[in-house]
Amino acid sequence: MKLRVALLLTTFALGVALTGNAGNTVPGTIQQPSATVPIASQPPDLASVPAGKQGDLIRQGRDIFDQTPTHAKAYVGNRLSCNDCHLQGGTEPKAAPLTGVPGLFPLYSQRAGRVISFGERVQECFVRSENGTPPPLDSPEMNALLAYIEWISHGVSKQEALAGRGLVQIPSLTGNADRGAVIYQQRCAACHQDNGAGVPAVFPALWGPDSYNDGAGMNKVPKMAAFLVKAMPPTQPGTLSPQDAYDVAAYIHGKPRAKFNAAYSKY
Ligand code: HEC
Ligand code: HEC
Repeated sequence: MKLRVALLLTTFALGVALTGNAGNTVPGTIQQPSATVPIASQPPDLASVPAGKQGDLIRQGRDIFDQTPTHAKAYVGNRLSCNDCHLQGGTEPKAAPLTGVPGLFPLYSQRAGRVISFGERVQECFVRSENGTPPPLDSPEMNALLAYIEWISHGVSKQEALAGRGLVQIPSLTGNADRGAVIYQQRCAACHQDNGAGVPAVFPALWGPDSYNDGAGMNKVPKMAAFLVKAMPPTQPGTLSPQDAYDVAAYIHGKPRAKFNAAYSKY
């Protein structure tokens, strides 16, 4: 089911790319490991993963990235996968890509108030975006994830990584949750459902127990708005105005979700 939806969305995205109507291209595109079509990126081609032990680790990391609740079960407290937010296997520029990002660490983290390693940054998404617990830095799951992210980062320079990093820049606005409720019904509910619970493993939950907790980056209205302008709805990316995105993010922000576990505030 998940694969079918992904194929449908990919086919649509390619159609948009080839006709040049994407409307959401961003400058400074990162070199993709296996990009064959300009403008829209594609997930990296797993056929080019080397054979042998290291290749197995990379493929295992990709499975975790795509279906985190299934393949890193012990550390996940919701139904979200890395790939729900880090699009195209973590390679889509301005959708929080991870290509080349390991090379930017160790880095000072404002949230943690200290210098953190790349592995610790991954742990941070586990305790916030995955509403789970931090996989130990030497756990099989962490080793596999890091092997996969290193693989998509191969040959990507620091400059290229910085150019595509993060989210789209949009003006700082004030969201109107009432207007957002109307947009949600018209443009989001068909996939994410009226109750925001989505369809687990196909359409991710936007609020409630299957979603990220209130300590996650996506829980900030400006951050979600920047993500939406770039990525949603996936069949028509680039069609929400910054104001629409702020409005619908404000609506979603008013809904219930799990609390961040303060025991993990060092992340
Ligand atoms: C609910 C959405 C969501 C999920 C699920 C999620 N992340 Fe993230 N992640 C984000 C956001 C948002 C950022 C911050 C992007 C920004 O502010 O530029 C981020 C940042 C990161 C960063 C730092 C990127 C940088 O440029 O410094 C890493 C590494 C990361 N995530 C790894 C992961 C991994 C691995 C998983 C799966 C185990 C995961 N994330 C799951 C939303 C998510
Ligand atoms: C055609 C189905 C579809 C529609 C319509 C849609 N989404 Fe999504 N959404 C997805 C899928 C699938 C993903 C996972 C990422 C991907 O594969 O593109 C996603 C991911 C997300 C995420 C990040 C993951 C999470 O759970 O936090 C947010 C936030 C989001 N959508 C919000 C919205 C909003 C707001 C709208 C309406 C403006 C919308 N989406 C419309 C299918 C849809």
